[in-house]
Amino acid sequence: MNTFDEKALHGARESTMGRLMFRLYRIHALRNFALRWALRTEGNRFHSKTVRRILNHYHGVEVGAYSYGGRCMRPGAMPRGVSIGRYVSIAQGVRVFLRDHPLDHLSTHPFFFNRNLGVVQSDKVEESTLRIEHDAWVGENVIITAGCHRIGIGAVVGAGSVVTKDVPDFAIVAGAPAKFIRFRFHPDIQHAVLQSKWWELSMEELRQYGDVIEQPLTRLPLQSIQRCAA
Ligand SMILES: CC(C)(COP(=O)(O)OP(=O)(O)OC[C@H]1O[C@@H](n2cnc3c(N)ncnc32)[C@H](O)[C@@H]1OP(=O)(O)O)[C@@H](O)C(=O)NCCC(=O)NCCS
Repeated sequence: MNTFDEKALHGARESTMGRLMFRLYRIHALRNFALRWALRTEGNRFHSKTVRRILNHYHGVEVGAYSYGGRCMRPGAMPRGVSIGRYVSIAQGVRVFLRDHPLDHLSTHPFFFNRNLGVVQSDKVEESTLRIEHDAWVGENVIITAGCHRIGIGAVVGAGSVVTKDVPDFAIVAGAPAKFIRFRFHPDIQHAVLQSKWWELSMEELRQYGDVIEQPLTRLPLQSIQRCAA
């Protein structure tokens, strides 16, 4: 098992038939059946380990435990090369572009950069990658362009934004192009949250830290946040 499976999927659910559904997915005619079965027997999109394994293995997209939305759990909705951390929320209509048409060639038309169309001898555009970090929240109808490689831990992207650059941890950004609005927390709190790495815990493990889950962090001593750790 690789690092993606072990750490990213901690707490996700796997049914007894999960491994079989994973293998059945190889057969195109059975793909919908395997996905539906996995979702039904492993809770739902928040919890299914098998669907996450399918996405990773067959489609090159990582989705950590509890992350949901924006059709990120649907094969093909996110391009190969997208990696989504744990506890991430993605709203409807979010679109990710991992490459642009070349701007410095004679033409931007695909004839001039896509080898498969039979004109040029080699592909001219490299695919980028995108990491959406743990606990990020990406709002409705956001567009993320190839200029953005990382949306930080706990970051928020406002509805309708066009994200063209990396977004720092805990930053709230919005607009087209997305601009920094503010950080969610005071630097001391951000530091405590980052130290805790709470997202490595499963939801069951997190329940024991009732105070940290129930209240705004500004009302808590920093030690409570730091305690909430794997
Ligand atoms: C970004 C958001 C979280 C609000 O964050 P906030 O820090 O409370 O921001 P405020 O409402 O105080 O606004 C701060 C500034 O950002 C602007 N702003 C807020 N959201 C914006 C957006 N989506 N696009 C452009 N500008 C936005 C405000 O107009 C304001 O500008 P001003 O300072 O010039 O007056 C919220 O506006 C938002 O977009 N939420 C996403 C909703 C969504 O997509 N839900 C999907 C279902 S899960």
